[in-house]
Order: sequence, then structure tokens, then C-alpha cells
Amino acid sequence: MTQEELIKDFPIIQNRQITYLDNGATTQKPIQVLNAINEYYKKHNANPHRGAYSLSIEATERYENTRDKIANFINAKSREEIIFSKNATESINMIAYSYGIENLSEKDEIVISIMEHHSNLVPWQKVAKVTGAKLNYMYINDQFELSEEEIENKITDNTKIVGITHVSNVLGTINNVEKIIKYAHKKGAIVIVDASQSIPHMKIDVQKLDSDFLVFSGHKMLAPLGIGVLYGKKELLNKMQPFLMGGDMIEYVYEQNTTFAPLPNKFEAGTQNIEGVIGLGAAIDYIEKIGYENIKKYEDEVVLYARNKLSELEFINMYITPNKEKHSSVISFNIRGVHPHDVASILDSYGVCVRSGNHCAQPLMRFLGIDSTCRASFYFYNTKEDVDRLVEALKKAYEMFKKYISIKKGE
Ligand code: ALA
Repeated sequence: MTQEELIKDFPIIQNRQITYLDNGATTQKPIQVLNAINEYYKKHNANPHRGAYSLSIEATERYENTRDKIANFINAKSREEIIFSKNATESINMIAYSYGIENLSEKDEIVISIMEHHSNLVPWQKVAKVTGAKLNYMYINDQFELSEEEIENKITDNTKIVGITHVSNVLGTINNVEKIIKYAHKKGAIVIVDASQSIPHMKIDVQKLDSDFLVFSGHKMLAPLGIGVLYGKKELLNKMQPFLMGGDMIEYVYEQNTTFAPLPNKFEAGTQNIEGVIGLGAAIDYIEKIGYENIKKYEDEVVLYARNKLSELEFINMYITPNKEKHSSVISFNIRGVHPHDVASILDSYGVCVRSGNHCAQPLMRFLGIDSTCRASFYFYNTKEDVDRLVEALKKAYEMFKKYISIKKGE
């Protein structure tokens, strides 16, 4: 399928005259995903796992078939290793509460990177506070990357948990998670990979990675909001206590005690977001239909073009690694001397949607010595024309603000 053909699958891109460059926050949804949800409600809706009647059985089948699909998609050893959650944030909280708080003590260390999203940072602060464990950070170098030395310096014999984002939602840096996982395992630590910003763009094989846990949100990969995945190795999940208690996660309930259901139900308390699950299944079908090689081909061309075009603008700072092989589809930048919210508002008036702010990464902003950035994040339906519109709108914004700012060259 050509890129032009793919774009036709996205009604919002057809219906609105916008250049959508906020895919790191959430992607747009193709008609196939919208239709799958519609079809489910029109023909199969009931509460899964809760009825012996055929409609409920159909709903259950669709829910559980999607679990199989996800297990295949990320090459999990077993379908029981796939837990549905609300999003990556909830998945990480489940690990923090059910694994972190249960297994750590004062002498232990948790290691995360300075580029973590708050969702892979604040839960570890909580674990550290409750258990007395120490929370340590791996810092980035001047190329916005984690060096091998930094990884080896920070992960020690005392490290029990390493949390790492596969791709930074601010810098777009692709972290060497293979190296981190190997090194952490050598030191006896387990690793949680936040794949929220990577799985929309690149193939993930959890067995090849040997990641202990891996989390992602559906809405950044064409699926609806409110559906996420927690992958965990079966031996770890089996040992963990559930985080949420309630319906469907139990085996027997007595007045004072309860035994829990086996995996994966043990971690899926209450009625689940089945429309989200159905939508995620359709999103995976769509991604597999295009193929990650084609996604990479479309994105590489557009992102490289954006890197080049933006770097020609002498009035902006960019926060990306010079190594394009280690850079995914996110470009953060600032017009020097202008607040990113002002820039984003001007871009919006030209129909260009970018995120501005701290991107839920305040410690990273502080480390970089800034408050916030504008962020353009791309997906396979973005084109070079989108980049041109971004660049033109940035020039207009700069023209508008330049009389209020004094720029020292190279500042
Ligand atoms: N985590 C999302 C982002 O980075 C919301 O924009």
C-alpha cells in the first residue's frame, strides 16, 4: 500500500484541514479500527466471562482472541503473560505495587533514566518511599543518549529493578534496551521496558529482548484510548499478588478470605474495556497489514526530512541526538526566547498540531535546563508536506515574535 492510500483510511485527516504532529500523545484511528468497534457493539456486545448465553460467549471469544493476537504480536511465550490494563501508566503501577513494594527493601536500588515519563518515575518514587530502597538515575550525555558507561556505572549488584523507556517521548532517543536488559540480568535485577513510544514504530519481540516486563498503551498505536497492555514473564506474574481486587479475578471467595484466579484473570479485576480490546486487535491487524518495514520506510524519510529542514532554522534549538539511527519519530524544539505554548498556539492557527509543555518529564526538563519544549511527533501517515507546513508556520511564528526577543547567535 502506498502512503497516499493509507492516509485515506484516516477519516479525521480527510475531514479536518490539519497537520497532525502529536502522535506521541495519541495517534489518529483508521476506519478499520472504528468499524471493528462499531461492529462489535452492533452485533456482539455483552459482558465477557460473565454469561453462559451465546452473546456473552461471543464477547468472551473476541476478548480472548485479542489476547492471543497480542501474544503473537510481541512473541510472548504464553497468552497468560498478556494482561489488559487501562494504559502503560496503570501497567507500571501494577508492577510497582505487586512486584516492587513486595520484593524490595532498604538495601536495594531501583535504577531508571532521567528521560522517563512521569509514569515510569513517580511509581518508583512511591516504591522507594515505602520500602526504603534507593532510587538512582542514569543520566544522558550531550548527545541526548545514555552511554554504555553510564548504564554500567548505575546498575550495580544492589540494583533489583531497572525501569527504562525504549524510546524517549521528549527526545526520541532509542535506548539500547538490549544492553540494559543483559547488563541488569548479569547483576540480578529485573527490567521493565516502557514500549509506549516504540511499539507503534518498531517490532518488539519480548523473548528476544528477554525483558521481564514490557508495557504499552493502545492509543499511541491506532487503538482507542483507555486500553493498555502489561506483558510479564509468567514465572514473575505467578508469584505476584494482584493489585486490584474485585470481580473475575477470584477463584473462591469466603467471608474472610479469597483465593485468586490463575493468570491472566488474576490481574483483570472488574468489567474490562472490551471495546478498547477489540479496537486494539483491529489496530494490530492494521499495523501488520502495512508491515513495520513499510512503517519504518515512510517514517524514516519524513523524519529525516524534518530533522534537516528544522536544523536549517537558525532561530530554533533542537533536542535530538545527531545519530539518526538512534532517533525515532519525535522532535522537540524551541524558538529561542519564545515560550513553547505561544509557539504552539501560533502553529495551531496555521493548522499545525504539536504538543508543548514538559511532556510529563519534569526531571528531564530540569536536567536540560529548560521548562518546556514544543514537540512534533510523527507517524506513518505524515508526509513531507506536513513538515513543510510546520516549517512555514514556525517561520511565521518567529516573524511575529522576533521583535520581542533578542537572540544571541548560538545561545
Ligand atoms: N505520554 C504522552 C505524551 O508523551 C501523553 O505526549
